[in-house]
Amino acid sequence: KPGDWQNERGTDMDYKIALIRGDGIGPEVVGEAVKVLDKIGERFGHTFTYTDVLLGGCAIDACGTPFPDDTAEVCKACDAVLLGAVGGPKWDTCPADIRPEKGLLAIRKALGLYANLRPAILRPALADASPLKKETVDKGIDLMMVRELTGGIYFGKRERYDTPDKGVECTDLMAYSEMEIERIGRRAFELARLRRKKVTSVDKANVLETSRLWRSVMHRLAEEYDDVEYADMLVDNAAMQIVRDPSQFDVVVTENMFGDILSDEASMVTGSIGMLSSASLNETSFGLYEPSHGSAPDIAGKNIANPIATVLSAAMMLRYSLDLDQEADAVEAAVKKVLSDGYRTGDIMSEGCTQVSTTQMGDLLVERL
Ligand code: IPM
Ligand code: MG
Repeated sequence: KPGDWQNERGTDMDYKIALIRGDGIGPEVVGEAVKVLDKIGERFGHTFTYTDVLLGGCAIDACGTPFPDDTAEVCKACDAVLLGAVGGPKWDTCPADIRPEKGLLAIRKALGLYANLRPAILRPALADASPLKKETVDKGIDLMMVRELTGGIYFGKRERYDTPDKGVECTDLMAYSEMEIERIGRRAFELARLRRKKVTSVDKANVLETSRLWRSVMHRLAEEYDDVEYADMLVDNAAMQIVRDPSQFDVVVTENMFGDILSDEASMVTGSIGMLSSASLNETSFGLYEPSHGSAPDIAGKNIANPIATVLSAAMMLRYSLDLDQEADAVEAAVKKVLSDGYRTGDIMSEGCTQVSTTQMGDLLVERL
């Protein structure tokens, strides 16, 4: 399924991966994911060729901009992008248009990555880490947040102007077209078909016009995908339901900013944000894969960060962009095994387990491959 500008996949099973190691713990966790990918290559007979690309804080340091000119082109020439994390306090005082986050938003837009998939999964081995009550956790959590990523208030027109009597006033425009809503909706319904066949669409249709359009497009799709169970939910209620009973959700689809907020909430209730992966996809099989956590500057360079979220993001990359399901299964099985063997990084450490470093975790995963 290669896209217009995407390279045709070679028959020699040589895959080109752009690496954005990024800031904070980014380089450390990407390093472990690369170890895992190389082992997969050895076992299944593929070659992964990596190209380092700058984005975010390290790009500001090296080139004076969070999104250097050739970043998008180099990424487009690859089969997929693996990203560690960007940002940190060092760049907090930079002006708005040269902040690391700006690089993240720019690459999403430049590569057309409108579909952001953020699985929130509770692993039985880590259930104690969830802040929810045991009886809630026992019902299980396995939801897929599908967040619209290139539209809405994140990309609308921003203005700042003086008023005669109220001081400065600002606006952030939230706009959505039917086309943008429909393509993310289709992704959600298609994904649900591969899962438990349930879509919850989250909006604020009791207030926002964009949400009313969102809802009407979703209803049209729900009729078309009549084998999938469908429900609307207002965003304030969704925020409650995620802590009350997350087991009720399968696929949750929502606009950009609601998805930003709710995906953090959903990851928190699983208790292990260091374990959660994500994929940002365009309409081809091309995608950018990154852990759901941030750059964690407080623990950067200490070799204690949990690399599993990045390793699982690499597994999503194998599955969604490279069409290598068996290889993705193998990575996921290695993660499961390392946990059942009792190895933990500090963030998910619990009694009776063995605490290991970032690089040790990578080695243990490679051993299990
Ligand atoms: C995320 C992050 C970004 C976002 C920030 C860093 C711009 O919070 O990926 O969820 O808001 O999209
Ligand atoms: Mg966020």
